Amino acid sequence: MKLNMKTVSKIIDKYPTSKSSVLSVLQDIQEKYNWLPPDALRMISIKLGVPLIDIYSVATFYRAFSLTPRGKHLCTVCLGTACHVRGAPIVLDRIQEALGINPGCTTKDNQFTLETVNCLGACALAPIVVVDGQYHGQTTVQKVNPILKKYQKKKTKKSQKKK
Ligand code: FES
Repeated sequence: MKLNMKTVSKIIDKYPTSKSSVLSVLQDIQEKYNWLPPDALRMISIKLGVPLIDIYSVATFYRAFSLTPRGKHLCTVCLGTACHVRGAPIVLDRIQEALGINPGCTTKDNQFTLETVNCLGACALAPIVVVDGQYHGQTTVQKVNPILKKYQKKKTKKSQKKK
């Protein structure tokens, strides 16, 4: 989605002009654009009267925020100990192969961003792959393609509805 500064301005105006609003504004902008564009961060700094360095320190502290454009779907593979011993590395290999990207990257069509984490706190379900907040427990190499296709199908159905 293309950055619209009027939209960013409206988001900022929903909150009190104070440093305590930074986190909420960043959450709304991340949700709207799937990342935090630099121009949006500059506008937050100006409108809330908070130094840009402080905005960046909040934006870089939380994993939920991204300073680079993310794909439409966020695919996260847990590489914590429980997931690791139950096969997460080979699941990750299969996902990398299927998407053609490494962790931290986004597919060329902007559909998927791949990330890894170190424990999601649901070790009983290991190994876990999370796509758009939906947990896929006890994931195997064989389950990777069906999981990814589910999200690719959603895209196709939505784009068909728009026509
Ligand atoms: S190690 Fe993966 S959820 Fe804990």
